[in-house]
This record gives sequence, C-alpha cells and structure tokens, in this order.
Amino acid sequence: MAKQKKIVAISGSIREGSSNTNILKALAAFIPDGIDYTIYNGIKELPHFNPDIDRMEPPAVVEDFRKMLDESHALIICTPEYAKSVPGVLKNALEWLVSSAELYKKPVAVITASPSIAGGDKAHESLLLTLGMLDTIVVKKGSLLVPSVRTKFTDDGKVTDENTKQSLITLIQSIVDQINN
Ligand SMILES: Cc1cc2nc3c(=O)[nH]c(=O)nc-3n(C[C@H](O)[C@H](O)[C@H](O)COP(=O)(O)O)c2cc1C
Repeated sequence: MAKQKKIVAISGSIREGSSNTNILKALAAFIPDGIDYTIYNGIKELPHFNPDIDRMEPPAVVEDFRKMLDESHALIICTPEYAKSVPGVLKNALEWLVSSAELYKKPVAVITASPSIAGGDKAHESLLLTLGMLDTIVVKKGSLLVPSVRTKFTDDGKVTDENTKQSLITLIQSIVDQINN
C-alpha cells in the first residue's frame, strides 16, 4: 500500500491569534481525505542558526524539525511581512535546512498575508529567493498574496472572502496534484 502523503504547514508568525496561522487553519477545510496535514508550531523553539553546530551536533529540536520535513511530501508557508522582509523567526528556521537539504526538490506553496494592500509583497519576493536557494519546487498557482487580510477571515480560521477562498482551493489542488503524481 502506498504511504500516506503528508503536508506540513508553517506560519511565519508566532503571535497568538495570528492571521497567517488562521489562514493555515482555514486551509485544513480544503485538504482532501487521506492526506495528513500538520501545522507545525515549533519554529519559536529553534535556536539561532549557528554553522558551528549545524552538522556536527544539532540540538534535538533541530533534528526533530528536519526529520518531520524529511518525512513530508510538501510544505506550505504562510507568513506576514516584517520590516519589508520575512520575519526573522521563519528565516532562522529555513537557515537550519540549507545544508541538511530536507526541502531539496520538495513541492512548496507560499502565501503572504498582510493588513496592507500590498499583501506582503517584499516578504513574498524574499521568501521565493530563499526557497529557490533551497532548491524547492514552488508549485504552479502555489504562490499567493493576501492583501487586507483582516477583512477576509474570521478569528477562528474561516475564510469569508470568496476570491480568496477560490485561490486557496486552487493552491491546495495544485500542491495535492503535484504530490500525487
Ligand atoms: C515588527 C513589525 C514589522 C512589520 N512590518 C510590516 C511590513 O514591512 N509590511 C507589512 O505589510 N506589514 C508589516 N507589519 C504588519 C504585519 O503585517 C501585521 O502585524 C500582521 O497582522 C502580522 O501577521 P499575523 O497577524 O499573522 O501575526 C509589521 C508588523 C510588525 C510587528
């Protein structure tokens, strides 16, 4: 029997009540049966990346993080923009994956969401560059900006804006197609 497919989702915001984490919760409604969908909320526990301990003696939290991604078939990142870039806590998490390469050729989808009308475009651009460096595959229609995010979701993770809902469904379909083929 084929192994169950796993999608891991990471929010770039560790804030309680984060709108980005809310989007990841909303995505759960569109994941087909039979696919394991996990929102990983451990990036705040990862130590600052340090090349001295990267390969020789990585802390257990880093090893667990890497193992989880190694066993996953796809990754979804949803992040806010901080100071015109990716939040440091997310960038730090991605730095731990550069030499260990768990994301090599892995399908990814990228969402940035912001209360502004630009939708976190600078963070989006920066994140795509980092994911390119990690040799991931950003899936077709797997790149989405959500401007004015606070008007589009309820606090408990339900999408209220129809266009955004359709874009999220398309994004999930695209990533599921990629991992099923
Ligand atoms: C330190 C800091 C810097 C921010 N910088 C930006 C920015 O450059 N561009 C932007 O669109 N929003 C910026 N914001 C606003 C965030 O997009 C907003 O707080 C968003 O709701 C955070 O996402 P979350 O709800 O998932 O935590 C910033 C917020 C903080 C706290």
